[in-house]
Amino acid sequence: MKDTTFKEKTINFSKNLDVDFVKKIIVFNEISSTNSKAKELARKGEEEGTIVIAQIQKKGRGRFDRLWESPGGGIYLSIILRPDCPPNKATLLTLVISLVVSKTINSYNLSSNIKWPNDVRVNGKKIAGILLELEANEYKVDYIILGVGINLNTNTNLLSKKIRLISTSLSEEIGNSVDYYNFLKILLFNFDKYYKLFLEKKYDSIIKEWKNQSDTLGRRVRITTSSEQIIGNACDIDQSGFLIVINDSGECKKVANGDSIYFES
Ligand code: BTN
Repeated sequence: MKDTTFKEKTINFSKNLDVDFVKKIIVFNEISSTNSKAKELARKGEEEGTIVIAQIQKKGRGRFDRLWESPGGGIYLSIILRPDCPPNKATLLTLVISLVVSKTINSYNLSSNIKWPNDVRVNGKKIAGILLELEANEYKVDYIILGVGINLNTNTNLLSKKIRLISTSLSEEIGNSVDYYNFLKILLFNFDKYYKLFLEKKYDSIIKEWKNQSDTLGRRVRITTSSEQIIGNACDIDQSGFLIVINDSGECKKVANGDSIYFES
């Protein structure tokens, strides 16, 4: 079924938001994937600041072509961005949005942290994931789709067993359901603030805050990328958001993307 057959509405919600970057919010009751829809729109020239939101995704996409299970109650959104930057800086936006999601969760008096590159976790369980997709040439980004899935009022019993065991939701953590629009409002407000820092090239401030919010650095990790497995100590993040790992042979490895597993010490 084509996404155009799903109910779609453009809401004036953006008028009630105190945020500069949001231009338009397109809401679907149900869609295959907000990232796929946002990509389709971006290819047709949709402007920066357009957001696609869905209540349910039928084929939500995770990293490495995994399925992102998306029952009702979660937040599934994709932001179209067109920053004037080279592709190696675009990857920093994964750090920006994970920081923003983590800080938004903190505003509910709940501590959260980030597992490099993009998992936001509460009490060791995943509460949100990020999928950044982009179109660029060697020098310049054409568009970025920043996709975020957050288990907000998600009943994790609705997730498959494999996913349920490693997942949590905000409502389950705080023991109450959370106002969807209020959460969204804080999230977009926070994103506006950190996206401005990104556009102003204040990468050091972003990285510093990310480091404060992440529990990856200083740990012994196993990173699985599409081409190799690296075991060693996660020691830093570079200016593109790449993880720097000193492997067991003492070599310094820079990793752009991969799955990280912590070895408990
Ligand atoms: C991951 O942790 O693997 C990333 C998950 C990203 C899921 C979000 S939900 C909204 C957006 N649309 C998608 O199809 N995927 C992202």
